[in-house]
Amino acid sequence: MTNEPLLIQALNGSITERVPFWFMRQAGRFLPEYRAVRATTSGFLDLCFTPEKAAEVTLQPLRRFGMDAAILFSDILVIPYGLGVDVRFVEGEGPRVGLTNTQKTIEALDLTTVRNKLAPVAETVKLVKKELPEGAALIGFAGAPWTVACYMLQGKSGKEFQDARLFALSEPVLMQQLIDTLVVSTAEYLSMQIEAGAQAIQIFDSWAGLLTPAEFEKWVTLPTIKLVQLMRQKHPNVPIIGFAKGAGLSLADYAKRTNVNCIGVDQHTPMAFAIASRANDRQAVQGNLDPLLIASNKEEAVRETKAILETMKKTPSVFNLGHGFIPSTPIENVAAVAETVKAWRR
Ligand code: CP3
Repeated sequence: MTNEPLLIQALNGSITERVPFWFMRQAGRFLPEYRAVRATTSGFLDLCFTPEKAAEVTLQPLRRFGMDAAILFSDILVIPYGLGVDVRFVEGEGPRVGLTNTQKTIEALDLTTVRNKLAPVAETVKLVKKELPEGAALIGFAGAPWTVACYMLQGKSGKEFQDARLFALSEPVLMQQLIDTLVVSTAEYLSMQIEAGAQAIQIFDSWAGLLTPAEFEKWVTLPTIKLVQLMRQKHPNVPIIGFAKGAGLSLADYAKRTNVNCIGVDQHTPMAFAIASRANDRQAVQGNLDPLLIASNKEEAVRETKAILETMKKTPSVFNLGHGFIPSTPIENVAAVAETVKAWRR
């Protein structure tokens, strides 16, 4: 067991001597080597579906900063693509997703095409596994049903996703059908990643915080419970990180009822509150440095990193950001935070 990567030990509830770390959006536009590979592609999805290039950008941040984990390079919107929805990324604007807000478009979602259409992602996983540095782990991921539904119901990025919330409130039966399809297809896609070699998975519910407590239970907690159950039936030993951004006061209920191995903590949630919200002593926490602090002030980011590590001292834990890097993040700030985490001991 002790030969297991540090990240996997922590996710399984061990209090490791050093806190393993990785960063959300660690592969991306803040790295010049990412931008160089990206410039050789015809678009963002082309990068996601070209295994050699996707594997290369997955590994780039580890070479620079020595993280304890790589996160598969892909996107949460490949699920609607796999289900037959039109998904595009417009340069400088963001994603465009075919609206899936009628009985006809929801019933047209095709679960049988997911594995074939997303097969290149499994290839990426295999390539990354061959090159992964000693001691590092590979994390697979998917968007949670609610967050993916936000894009399918809104058609593009948003701040409030009003169309998605209005649909959920006015068409609860159709909404349930859409969510159920996403639960099953996401379990299939995550299983594919695990079968190819992913050692842990993270479920990104980036827009969980938009919901009222009652909606949160219906569209975040209950679908995540189902997804976790499906994953545990097939892959009982692969740890799951549940990141419900903005969960706030619903975090304890989410942690207890989903029974994920680790709860992702955003920068708006005090780490001590997250630790107190856990289902049990072996549930791990992950987070939660402010991505704007690391983008703007190296000394303050290092100080805050040490404070977060101190708070995590007696808890199984993984160091991360509270959300993804922004593209303007200075590389030297990331290096300083990475060195701080690597040098710190319990
Ligand atoms: O390093 C990593 O974290 C792994 C790769 C990863 C990406 N997206 C790459 C990406 C992961 C885990 C994601 C998840 C993702 N994608 C989420 C959930 C996490 C979060 O940040 O909240 C969401 C909501 C998406 C949807 C998405 N993808 C949007 C809205 C956009 C466009 C916005 C933007 O910043 O341009 C993307 C594109 C995207 N996904 C980029 C990257 C590196 C930038 C695309 C580019 O290079 O042009």
